Amino acid sequence: MFRLTDLVRVLLVRSFKPFTFTNEYEKTVDYSDCNRLGLYIHIPFCRSVCGFCPYCKEKFEKQKYDRYIDSLIKEIHLKGSCHEGKKVVTSLYFGGGTPAMAADRIMEIVDTVNEYYTITEGIGIELHPDDVRPDVLVKLKDAGITKVSIGIQSFLGKHSSILHRPSVDPSLLAEVLGQVRFETVSMDFIFALPGQTIDDLKYDIETAFSIGANHVAIYPFIDFSFADRKVKSMNKKEKRVLMDRMTDYFEEKGYFRKSIWTFASCREADYSSMSRETFLGFGCSAATALKDRFDINTFSVEEYCNRIERSGFPTALTLRFKSRQRMLYYLFWTAYSMKVDKKAFRDFFGVSLYIKFGFEILFAKLLGYITTTDGNLYLTKKGAYYFHYYESFYTLSYIDKMWGLLRNEAFPEEMKL
Ligand SMILES: C[S@@+](CC[C@H](N)C(=O)[O-])C[C@H]1O[C@@H](n2cnc3c(N)ncnc32)[C@H](O)[C@@H]1O
Ligand code: SF4
Repeated sequence: MFRLTDLVRVLLVRSFKPFTFTNEYEKTVDYSDCNRLGLYIHIPFCRSVCGFCPYCKEKFEKQKYDRYIDSLIKEIHLKGSCHEGKKVVTSLYFGGGTPAMAADRIMEIVDTVNEYYTITEGIGIELHPDDVRPDVLVKLKDAGITKVSIGIQSFLGKHSSILHRPSVDPSLLAEVLGQVRFETVSMDFIFALPGQTIDDLKYDIETAFSIGANHVAIYPFIDFSFADRKVKSMNKKEKRVLMDRMTDYFEEKGYFRKSIWTFASCREADYSSMSRETFLGFGCSAATALKDRFDINTFSVEEYCNRIERSGFPTALTLRFKSRQRMLYYLFWTAYSMKVDKKAFRDFFGVSLYIKFGFEILFAKLLGYITTTDGNLYLTKKGAYYFHYYESFYTLSYIDKMWGLLRNEAFPEEMKL
């Protein structure tokens, strides 16, 4: 069946061919031509598993965990030694799962990364509220972590209970965050839960900023087809009103919009593992996007360790980008930061943004999705809403399908999107 996402893809890519991902078993990776490379490390273990969560994760088991971290360190050696000398990278982000469950071995992992890479913009890690304890935070800080992102979801019991998450005590968080400080303290909330009002969101945002956060991420709830527990999401009209009121509120208060879904109380605070031009991923389900290819690692912890122990890369699927596909992928993820810089585009692709996308830029301006200043593109409030709208389509049509497949098959033969 031909879907709306297929139509948008055909119009933008100007080709009827689907995106074809194949299973390539390679032993080397070349990222020498990537000037602003980010690193990502995935730790797929949690104390307990939440029904609404789509990420690659499983319940913590000590033996599996030890074998996994040994394999992860070997993957960093394997990929790190593909480059001669130390490679300068922007940042390193730990995601999961609950990566702070590896607090005891974070220093060992970061030291291994530092053997091959020079990190210039800091190291971030996702925390579950249960990880916000002085002993854990001190270990993370000693290992070089500069940014933390805490998964609150909501301080309000009526919303956290919909997600079957325990309630979070803000005063306890405030006390611990006051003892061990980080450059960025971000807090994650979920947006558009059934019955959520603007006052509920204001309460969450103000509580976060008053207890030590300087950055918040408000993620729209996504109901993945394979999630164990269904949560009814808000209808489109209500969502639009809520998103506009939330954006107005951030503006009135003088907070800084850092991306579609993130806001900060000071300009320097930043937590963004998403809007990178190129990135290299390590661990189960970690993705890699280079100038000419996209790879995603297997979702199976067992098969991941088996592959690495035989010194093979754990890549499950690879897409070799066609030139226009790569440009669209670039535009999609950089627009997430609300701005597309024409010089950065030219530096990356060696061609003008306006030569390649002049018609689409004009069309987006006429629709009121973007404005331009000095040739750079800026998303408007309307543009941000529609970006979110297409992002949801993209997530449900592409990511849902890819992750759904990879949850069932460790190394599929092929996938067409
Ligand atoms: C890996 S978790 C964060 C760290 C930690 N595991 C925790 O749960 O607090 C990343 C974030 O993804 C978001 N998330 C998870 N499932 C989601 C869904 N179905 N829709 C939207 N956001 C989701 C949550 O805000 C969560 O904090
Ligand atoms: S939301 Fe966090 S704790 Fe819950 S399953 Fe997902 S990664 Fe684990």
